[in-house]
Amino acid sequence: MLKLLFLFVFIGLVAGEDGLQAWLRYAPLPRGHHRSSLPSRIVALNDSSSSPVYTAGQELQKGILGILGEDLEICDSAPAGNSAILVGTVGQYNKVYQDATLHPDLSEDGFWLSTQGTTVRILGQNERGVLYGAFEYLSMLAQGNFSTVEYPTNPSAPIRWTNEWDNMDGSIERGFAGNSIFFDDGAIVANLTRAAEYARLLASIRVNAVIVNNVNANYTTLQPDNIEGLGRIADVFRPYGVQLGMSLYFASPANITNLTTYDPLDSRVIAFWNDKTDEIYQRIPDMAGYLVKANSEGQPGPIQYNRTLAQGANLFAKALKPHGGILMFRAFVYDQLNESDWKADRAKAAVDYFQPLDGDFDDNVVVQIKYGPIDFQVREPVSPLFANLRNTSTAIELQVTQEYLGQQCHVIYLPPLWKTITNFDLRVDNSTSLVRNIMTGQHFDRPLGGSAGVVNVGQNTTWLGSHLAMSNLYAYGRLAWDWTADPTEILQDWIRLTFGHNQQVIDTITEMSLASWPAYENYSGNLGIQTLTDILYTHFGPNPQSQDNNGWGQWTRADKASIGMDRTVSNGTGYSGQYPPEIASLYEDISTTPDDLLLWFHHVNYTHTLTSGKSVIQHFYDAHYAGALTAHSFVGMWESLKPYMDTERYDDVLFRQKFQAGHALVWRDAITNFYHNLSGIPDEAGRVGHHPWRIEAESMRLSGYEIYAVAPFETASNATAIVTRSNSTTGTASTTIAFDSGVYDLAINYYDMYGGNSTYEVCIGDQVVAKWTGDIVDTGKLGHTPSIYLDGHSATRVTFPDVKIQKGDVLTIKGTPDGIEPAPVDYVALLPRGVVD
Ligand SMILES: *[C@@H]1O[C@H](CO)[C@@H](O)[C@H](O)[C@H]1NC(C)=O
Ligand SMILES: *[C@@H]1O[C@H](CO)[C@@H](O)[C@H](O)[C@H]1NC(C)=O
Ligand SMILES: *[C@@H]1O[C@H](CO)[C@@H](O)[C@H](O)[C@H]1NC(C)=O
Ligand SMILES: *[C@@H]1O[C@H](CO)[C@@H](O)[C@H](O)[C@H]1NC(C)=O
Ligand SMILES: *[C@@H]1O[C@H](CO)[C@@H](O)[C@H](O)[C@H]1NC(C)=O
Ligand SMILES: *[C@@H]1O[C@H](CO)[C@@H](O)[C@H](O)[C@H]1NC(C)=O
Ligand SMILES: *[C@@H]1O[C@H](CO)[C@@H](O)[C@H](O)[C@H]1NC(C)=O
Ligand SMILES: *[C@@H]1O[C@H](CO)[C@@H](O)[C@H](O)[C@H]1NC(C)=O
Ligand SMILES: *[C@@H]1O[C@H](CO)[C@@H](O)[C@H](O)[C@H]1NC(C)=O
Ligand SMILES: *[C@@H]1O[C@H](CO)[C@@H](O)[C@H](O)[C@H]1NC(C)=O
Ligand SMILES: *[C@@H]1O[C@H](CO)[C@@H](O)[C@H](O)[C@H]1NC(C)=O
Ligand SMILES: *[C@@H]1O[C@H](CO)[C@@H](O)[C@H](O)[C@H]1NC(C)=O
Repeated sequence: MLKLLFLFVFIGLVAGEDGLQAWLRYAPLPRGHHRSSLPSRIVALNDSSSSPVYTAGQELQKGILGILGEDLEICDSAPAGNSAILVGTVGQYNKVYQDATLHPDLSEDGFWLSTQGTTVRILGQNERGVLYGAFEYLSMLAQGNFSTVEYPTNPSAPIRWTNEWDNMDGSIERGFAGNSIFFDDGAIVANLTRAAEYARLLASIRVNAVIVNNVNANYTTLQPDNIEGLGRIADVFRPYGVQLGMSLYFASPANITNLTTYDPLDSRVIAFWNDKTDEIYQRIPDMAGYLVKANSEGQPGPIQYNRTLAQGANLFAKALKPHGGILMFRAFVYDQLNESDWKADRAKAAVDYFQPLDGDFDDNVVVQIKYGPIDFQVREPVSPLFANLRNTSTAIELQVTQEYLGQQCHVIYLPPLWKTITNFDLRVDNSTSLVRNIMTGQHFDRPLGGSAGVVNVGQNTTWLGSHLAMSNLYAYGRLAWDWTADPTEILQDWIRLTFGHNQQVIDTITEMSLASWPAYENYSGNLGIQTLTDILYTHFGPNPQSQDNNGWGQWTRADKASIGMDRTVSNGTGYSGQYPPEIASLYEDISTTPDDLLLWFHHVNYTHTLTSGKSVIQHFYDAHYAGALTAHSFVGMWESLKPYMDTERYDDVLFRQKFQAGHALVWRDAITNFYHNLSGIPDEAGRVGHHPWRIEAESMRLSGYEIYAVAPFETASNATAIVTRSNSTTGTASTTIAFDSGVYDLAINYYDMYGGNSTYEVCIGDQVVAKWTGDIVDTGKLGHTPSIYLDGHSATRVTFPDVKIQKGDVLTIKGTPDGIEPAPVDYVALLPRGVVD
């Protein structure tokens, strides 16, 4: 019976590697792993099915069956000690086993884990902590770790939340994995299976609350049927110890009632929020709290009534207070600015708005601060607001969703980026003041603190749209618990749990992951100039020009001779002066500013020499070529894992790595050409604008195709592409190959736009050597924000290896348009093996 069961579970798990179970696959431990004898039963000290202790028992049973093939029974009591996995709170344990009173050193949500042979005890400070301990023990077993341990562990901070930017209509702002698992068509979905599965994943990484709706909120969330729906979500979260929280629309009273005001000091407005909050707690007694984005990017707020942001925040804090709820208030408040003012600076806004209010916020308010002063860029200095609020609780806002960082189509392991922020020493009062200690509340002795990770999971079985992106969610939870944890160790736990124990798999995914953020920074925005994505459209592909000449304040101030924001006190915006004196002087002085933030703080000539010895412009060129090459190497690295992978995940990741390799070239060429064109300074290595293996589509013999000037120009090779003359007739482009006879990789850059699935065929002579459909965007296969133009978002490369060519052969592309997509082609490259053009 046991054997049969084992077989069944084994097959069940291996058949569907669709990512749904993420790191909780409970795959059978491979043969050869040491395995001591197991406890013979599970004792769960609470048998109420909404209790995390009960969940812990169920999870242990399921996990041990999967990992070790043993089906343990669950009981609600047992003699003390031997041969059981005992799970319960310290209080429950001491009540049942009065002879063996234990007092491990635990704070809220903490747990104590003791494994002594066949006696395993998992005791939580509260029921949520019990479940965390059960997941910790299962993680050990799944990684083949049967060691004897005994330790307590406690969280770094009480707030370990996620934010989901889900809209009530089911769409997700900056979500790249399909529609919402919570909402559809203005209401809460009927089937909350995925919501419960998400809570399970979050519990396993010790996330304790989820803000389920977008910070750009909608008053309809507060309608009675939606409050009931939110209550149903809270009900499926509860057995996992995950609390529900919600974002509020500040002007709601003016929308829902006959009030014509939402002034936070108006007694009718106060009564509205008090009543509404009581109504919500009636249905959700353990609601975590509210998240409010006010006076930010068009959202209404207290400033409309000449009230302070603190008065706005305290309105909600006071309503929440009797229920124990927390008010998270976003610091992302800034105004439109005029670039002709050299001293205008959006990066200063948060300190300008919030520092004067320090001490005015109620004790259950937490100011939620993005890690940098702009907006989740590839590299930013720490937000100086962390050093400016001594009497206000703060939390850091991070993004697990990769809004500006490739939207899960580029692999980026984010913890090394987060660590540059959380390990930063702000030198408040000239003494050690690590950001991680400030944001967790320790440094300024605040009652609250922690982190909010913007995750934006969707209906896709992979949760984030990409298997590899899940390392970031896993690591977010692990770090939120312990900001001193090592990103590489966390990563390798995740790899073993997700992909198994093969050493080559572990080494290769580790190498790719650790190389990934530096590579992306190299081929996007360097030296602190920001990511250089198109900030006015999709936030995905390159568009350096979009940073400037608008009111958004993400300026680069690039002109023919120079680039960068002068944020010095002496001659610039004065932003550097928002840091404590030691850090201010570090950034004020160009010679002590680190190269990787040079252009954030200083406006310099392209010829300025970095501490590395290179000029700014040559650094741009070299970094972009190096970064794109690294992205290319990921394809081969992943291919080397084929023998050790299930085909489902192997193929899915390979497709994405090939896309990234091609899109990294789009990035490299766009950015280097843009600044080459602007500065007129040649690349010392002669690479920029020189592509010996390319054949430009516009230089081919065209029939039914015409030349098209792409905008921005740098997102097409030689600034031009070809498009079909009509939206219904096939076009052809041909060229006589002048390269030597041989075997080449055939690469084609085309544009995959939203609103059409063009089809393409490439022939050498009359032999078809390549065929594809430009349907990546329309089918949502990659999940990034789509574009309806020929630009850096739609620019895509496909490669067909090992094509035999004779010198003098005619290569013909046939493109058939579809919908609004005119079968656009940029260029063809014939690449000798190993050459990246
Ligand atoms: C709020 O939700 C309603 C119903 O789904 C929708 O019609 C409306 O457009 C939304 N408003 C905003 C500002 O999102
Ligand atoms: C609810 O959704 C899950 C998948 O998330 C599915 O397996 C299940 O059948 C659905 N239940 C109902 C009643 O539709
Ligand atoms: C909600 O009220 C605010 C303030 O009066 C108003 O600006 C907004 O347009 C209203 N929204 C809707 C959808 O009525
Ligand atoms: C708003 O006013 C109308 C008419 O004056 C009244 O019928 C309705 O009950 C009021 N609604 C609320 C929510 O007070
Ligand atoms: C706004 O409030 C401040 C301080 O309470 C006061 O000095 C100022 O006159 C007010 N402005 C307006 C336009 O009401
Ligand atoms: C000082 O600021 C001015 C603009 O006010 C700018 O043109 C100039 O280049 C800056 N000087 C230095 C040394 O950065
Ligand atoms: C802190 O450091 C700054 C810069 O090094 C120095 O000017 C200042 O005097 C120091 N302050 C104290 C209180 O030591
Ligand atoms: C920067 O370039 C400008 C224009 O070429 C030149 O006038 C200026 O002297 C240069 N500044 C430095 C510090 O090299
Ligand atoms: C670049 O584009 C221009 C204008 O379309 C064209 O005349 C020229 O031949 C192209 N250059 C190459 C190398 O194809
Ligand atoms: C492209 O193909 C996909 C998948 O078949 C389809 O869902 C989509 O509607 C098509 N796009 C257009 C514009 O026809
Ligand atoms: C989910 O992701 C897979 C793999 O990338 C993809 O094939 C599928 O189309 C996606 N589905 C949705 C609904 O996003
Ligand atoms: C081609 O474009 C015309 C005009 O915009 C449009 O009416 C027609 O539907 C399009 N045809 C196709 C096949 O998309």
